[in-house]
Amino acid sequence: PPRVFSGIQPTGSIHLGNYLGAISQWIKLQDQNEDLILSIVDLHSITLPHDPKKLSRNILELTATLLGCGLDPSKVILFQQSMVSAHTELCWCLGCISTMARLAHLPQYKEKSANLKNIPLGLFVYPVLQAADILLYKATHVPVGEDQLQHIQLCQELAKIFNNRFGQTFPMPHTLKISNEYSRIKSLRDPLKKMSKSDPDEKSRICLTDTPDTIVRNIKKAVTDFTSEVTFDPENRPGVSNLISIHSFATGKTVEQICKEAEHLDTGRYKFVAADAIVAYIKPIQESIAQYLDDKGYLLSVLAEGGEKASEIAEVTLKEVHNKLGLRVKY
Ligand code: TYM
Repeated sequence: PPRVFSGIQPTGSIHLGNYLGAISQWIKLQDQNEDLILSIVDLHSITLPHDPKKLSRNILELTATLLGCGLDPSKVILFQQSMVSAHTELCWCLGCISTMARLAHLPQYKEKSANLKNIPLGLFVYPVLQAADILLYKATHVPVGEDQLQHIQLCQELAKIFNNRFGQTFPMPHTLKISNEYSRIKSLRDPLKKMSKSDPDEKSRICLTDTPDTIVRNIKKAVTDFTSEVTFDPENRPGVSNLISIHSFATGKTVEQICKEAEHLDTGRYKFVAADAIVAYIKPIQESIAQYLDDKGYLLSVLAEGGEKASEIAEVTLKEVHNKLGLRVKY
């Protein structure tokens, strides 16, 4: 039976890339009654130096954000990765069938380690932990944005290697492709880059927690090009097309409709129209997030319950893996 797994890091505020590329997709799957398991992957967030207090706060904030976006913990399993110790245990087992050469090739590792003198081992092992996340639940589908495709590919390879060496255990996990427009939302400062939590320039993104003023200002400053008409052409005009995509998502209008309505505007004036629509879309979500944030006890209870449900499934797989590897001695 199909089972969907996905994860999100509790590092900093959630931006529209995360929202369009992942969270809104999860809500859709929830509404289709899919078997959906979602993890706040806090262990992935300690692979680079971090502030413990801030991380704890971010975990609660992310929980409130996911609920505020519409995830319903009675319909999906929502849990915190570090509460289920089987993740790190399976990570070790999979690490023993991974090669250094393969991991060194992964683009996210190359990018994140490029400017470091001392590279943490955890950063290198990161994708193996991600594979463990997915395989632990025998997930068949993994909805992610484009930046995660190589990691899912590694996960597929590890599943294959494990199955070949130790007997059929894991179903092949497939990436759930989302509509191309939203699988890579671009940075507002450099439309050739993805919108990212780790970009030091806060003007490069729109976060769900931004005030309307900030959103309008950042969109106004968004890098476009020297053509003044509003046309949708992601290849040649990535900047303005990125805004149109987000605008289209926020209003439910097609990109053609948006361009038609903006016929008499130049890109400068169009930005205000897009910004207003985006602010209006985000506002109720923000209000809902704020309400959840007011009830920390409830947030903690959601994570505790999710952790128990996830552990139950995870422990069964871990036992099976231990058996297959000969770790559990049978008489
Ligand atoms: P993370 O926390 O960086 O991002 C969460 C999700 O948001 C998507 N995303 C984007 N989509 C479109 N445009 C963008 N600009 C954009 N930026 C981010 C990501 O593709 C992702 O789907 N390693 C993962 C977390 C993870 C995970 C997993 C995911 C850990 N274990 C198992 C799936 C399955 C990460 O850092 O995502």
